[in-house]
Amino acid sequence: MASSTESSLATASWEQIRELFPLDPATTHLNTGTVGATPHEVIDTYERVTREWTGSLANIYPPTLYPEYRARIAADFGVDQDELAICHNSTEAIARIVAGLDFGPDDEVLTTSHECFSLLSNLNLAHNRFGVRITIITLPSGPDITAEEIVALFEAAITPRTKVMAFAAITLYTGTRMPVRALCDLAQRHGITTVVDGALLPGMLEADLRALGVDFMTGSGSKFQCGPLGTGLLYARNKVFPEHNPLPLPTFWPVISTWYPLLGEMPKRTRTSVETCNMGDYLQSAGSANIGRAAALADACDLWNRIGRRRIEERVLELGWYTKQRVVEHFGESALYSPLSDANLHAPLVAFKPFRAPEDAWNINKIMAFVDRLESAHGIWIRWVEFEVPGSPHIHYAARICTHLFNHHDEVDRTLKIMVQLADEMS
Ligand SMILES: Cc1ncc(COP(=O)(O)O)c(C=O)c1O
Repeated sequence: MASSTESSLATASWEQIRELFPLDPATTHLNTGTVGATPHEVIDTYERVTREWTGSLANIYPPTLYPEYRARIAADFGVDQDELAICHNSTEAIARIVAGLDFGPDDEVLTTSHECFSLLSNLNLAHNRFGVRITIITLPSGPDITAEEIVALFEAAITPRTKVMAFAAITLYTGTRMPVRALCDLAQRHGITTVVDGALLPGMLEADLRALGVDFMTGSGSKFQCGPLGTGLLYARNKVFPEHNPLPLPTFWPVISTWYPLLGEMPKRTRTSVETCNMGDYLQSAGSANIGRAAALADACDLWNRIGRRRIEERVLELGWYTKQRVVEHFGESALYSPLSDANLHAPLVAFKPFRAPEDAWNINKIMAFVDRLESAHGIWIRWVEFEVPGSPHIHYAARICTHLFNHHDEVDRTLKIMVQLADEMS
C-alpha cells in the first residue's frame, strides 16, 4: 500500500485495507473464528524482532516481562499492564485462570453447554481435582432469542454455592454476543466471580474490560485481532473501581510464574483503585518467551488503532448482518441458529442449517462432507459447528460463516449461492 494511504488508514477504503493482508486469491477466507489472516506488517515485525534477538547476546528474561507491549495492548482494552499478561492463546489463559482460582468441594461453577472445549475441559478438570460442581445450562438459539432470556436463564440457575460464572463473550457455535455487562451485574449482585472466555473479542469489538465489570477475561491474539499464531491475552482484574465492579478482588494464584516468591507471600492485593501487587508481572514472568510474537501482537493492535477499532466493529457487524439477511433469503429464517431480532446479540459469526430435511441437522457426516466440498471444490473456507439445542435430544450440526474486515459482500454472495447449489445436490 502506498505510504500516503498508509498514513490515512482511518479513511482508507475496505479494498485498500484488504491489501494489508496476505490473502490467497484462490481462497475465500470465512473462518476468522478459527484463525484470522496476519497482516504483512505484523509478519514483518515478528521476523525483524526475532532476528534482532537471535543475533544478539542479550539477556532475554527482563524483556519477556513485556512491560511496553502489555501497556500498549492493555490501553486498547481500557485497562493497565498490571492487569494483563500476553500468553500463548485463549486456551492457556482459561487454564491458568481456572487453575488459579481458589476452589473447594462446596463451590459451584455456572456455565453453558455452548462454551469452547477449552473452557469446559478445564472446568471438568477442576471438578475432578477439587470436587467443584459444574452446572451447565444450554443457551437458547435461533432468530428470536433475547439478551433478557439469557440473563434470566443464568439467574434461575444461581444457588448460594455458585462461586463463578464462566461464559463466552461471543459464543463460537451460534455466534451469540453475550450480554456481558448484564451478566456481570447479575454476578456482582450475588458476589460471584466472572470468568469470560473472550477468545473472539479482541479485534472484533471495541471493548473496555473495566467498564464491562468482568473479573477475568481471556482473548485470542490470532483470531479477530489478526496477531501471529500462538498469542493470547489474560486479563485479571487487579484493582477495585466500585463503579464497574465493587466486589473485592477474588483470591487468585498465579500458576506458572517465576516471579512468585521463593519464600513467603505475594504482596497484599488492593481494595482500592490503586495497585499494590502487579498481578500482570506475576503472570507474565514465566520463563523465557517469544519476544517477536509479543512485539507482533502489539503491532497488530496498533494497526487496529490506526484503522479505528470502532470503525472495524461497525464493519464486521455490518458484514455479519448482511450475511444473516442473505442466509434468511436463501435458506429461510428457520434455518438460522444465530440471533437475528435482538441486535445487541449480533456478531459476525453466522450459523445455520444448509439442508432442508430436519434430520440433516443432526447428521455429522453430511455437514462434514458439505464443508469439505466447499473447500476442495470452491476454495471456500468455513467451518461446521456442533451444539445442544434446548428441548432437542440431538446434538445439532450447522455451517458457520465468519466474516472479518478483509471480507467483502461479493464473497458472502458467492459463497451462499454455491452453498444453495451444493445443499440441493446433496439433498
Ligand atoms: C469462544 C472460544 N473460546 C476459546 C477458543 C480457543 O481459542 P485459542 O485457539 O486462542 O486457544 C476458541 C477457538 O475457536 C473460541 O472460539
